[in-house]
Amino acid sequence: MSTRMDDTPGAATFNTPAEAYDRHVGRYGRELARALIAAADVRPDRRALDVGCGPGALTSELVALLGGDQVAAIDPSMPFVEACRRRLRGVRVEIGAAEALPFEDAEFDHALAQLVVNFMTDPQAGVGEMERVTRPGGTVAAAVWDYAGEMTLLRRFWDAAVAVDPSAEDRDEGRCMPFCAPDELAALWSAAGLAEVSVVPAIVTARYEGFEDLWEPLERGVGPSGAHAASLAADQRAAVKEELRRRLDVGDDPFELTARAWIATGRVC
Ligand SMILES: C[S@@+](CC[C@H](N)C(=O)[O-])C[C@H]1O[C@@H](n2cnc3c(N)ncnc32)[C@H](O)[C@@H]1O
Repeated sequence: MSTRMDDTPGAATFNTPAEAYDRHVGRYGRELARALIAAADVRPDRRALDVGCGPGALTSELVALLGGDQVAAIDPSMPFVEACRRRLRGVRVEIGAAEALPFEDAEFDHALAQLVVNFMTDPQAGVGEMERVTRPGGTVAAAVWDYAGEMTLLRRFWDAAVAVDPSAEDRDEGRCMPFCAPDELAALWSAAGLAEVSVVPAIVTARYEGFEDLWEPLERGVGPSGAHAASLAADQRAAVKEELRRRLDVGDDPFELTARAWIATGRVC
């Protein structure tokens, strides 16, 4: 039985238009996907699964490397699955969650999850499922943001939100995401029984046309940061917006931000 968004509370803030996601953290997706693919040692002639594919940043990079018939993807968000199917015609894109993957044992050489582990309802079960569908000798790999440190956009956003209202601290992803540092991530990978576990940093960049270009998708409620921005009363939202602009020290001219992710890899025994 497939698992849909309604059954997956961690995914609730991604039941949003794919285009809004693209303009929020989706900007970093393709570059991060290339780093994840390299770390997982994905090579032509292999078969790969993208778990929590969203609108398809990693799926697209996998298809470019392996071909559409060698790639499958899955996500509980219907708008994201529809966008991924639309963007990558012919690729098998399922609606469902990591914790109950509708794939055979050892069906893939690689199972990858980009920016998903922290949203899984049961990360141990999700990583266990990724391992189950990967053949012995294959790799299970994931990228997570360094929410507490050098994911500049989200770090500055939550710092601004907490400066305006200290009670926002409970929603700060740097505090509430369980896997945003190398030790926690490595422990999750090792506990799943994966071998040769490694966690490495990856730094990616996104370009903005100006501060409004950065802020507008936040108001559309994408992800925990967007959900927080959208939930605020107009005066509070304006205060967070101004505080964020001040902390980023940017204006109407184009600028770039960097973001650090941690990439965990492990080999199936
Ligand atoms: C930050 S987005 C990342 C999307 C995509 N991987 C990317 O890099 O652009 C998080 C994704 O995880 C999905 N998700 C949430 N809970 C999930 C679960 N239990 N299993 C699989 N995916 C999940 C969401 O629907 C969303 O698409």
